[in-house]
Amino acid sequence: MQYSMKYIFGFAAAVCFVCSILISIANVGLRERQEVNKLLDKQKSVLQAAWLLEPGEKADRARVEEIFQNVQPRLLDLTTDQLLDDEALAVFDESKAPMAEAPKNNAGIVEVPEKVRIYEVLEEGDISMLVLPIVGKGLWSTMKGFLALDADGRTIRGLTYYEQAETPGLGGEVDNPRWKARWKGRLAYDENWKPVIEVIKGPAGSPEETPYAVDGLSGATLTSRGVTNMLQFWLGDNGYAPFLKSFRESGRA
Ligand SMILES: Cc1cc2nc3c(=O)[nH]c(=O)nc-3n(C[C@H](O)[C@H](O)[C@H](O)COP(=O)(O)O)c2cc1C
Repeated sequence: MQYSMKYIFGFAAAVCFVCSILISIANVGLRERQEVNKLLDKQKSVLQAAWLLEPGEKADRARVEEIFQNVQPRLLDLTTDQLLDDEALAVFDESKAPMAEAPKNNAGIVEVPEKVRIYEVLEEGDISMLVLPIVGKGLWSTMKGFLALDADGRTIRGLTYYEQAETPGLGGEVDNPRWKARWKGRLAYDENWKPVIEVIKGPAGSPEETPYAVDGLSGATLTSRGVTNMLQFWLGDNGYAPFLKSFRESGRA
């Protein structure tokens, strides 16, 4: 049977129309689940940074939520370095957070959010750790992650990235649990509260021998440098330093 051009185009358009409606319905219908999964992923990263969840450990939603009961999200205003109340946190939408121009830096950070969600890890009612979001450029990609600090505001408990597109096996080794384990117990600040932690080229010793340095990623000096630069930015005066100072002085830990 011979179909006219009009019929063929009409049929193709009808198929496209029906498919686009189906895709839109699926997209809208699954949006809620996508949001829930995104939140779950974020929560897992927070827990992994704090080593409350071992890297690679399969944890379902119930398990993550159970551990997360001891993790208190807070909203930090980076323009005033003050924590905001729970009402402000409840309506906070990270994707719509106002941004401010970043001061000149080596981390490739152009803008910083005015407000960020941070996390307090509680142990018997006291804050045992703070988990802080960090972002900066690697070699190929913008890397987003979390840095977990002890309640002293200085000792690193862990570092994890939940979003990065560095080369697997090279810069992508930021996700290697063995490398991540090297951060535990290092010191972010020296005794004058200068952010000095850095990823060096080659191996660093133990945290006791080399508290301010972490092993470089082999063949990935540029990603390693990106990690150093973003940590120094976020631990500095334009990042979390003023908040960490008032946290230490508040005696809340
Ligand atoms: C295909 C390809 C992918 C690379 N990916 C990365 C990367 O993800 N991170 C990185 O720092 N270097 C990467 N490099 C290497 C850099 O170009 C550069 O040589 C390296 O960072 C220098 O590190 P080294 O001094 O430890 O050898 C890649 C190189 C190639 C050819």
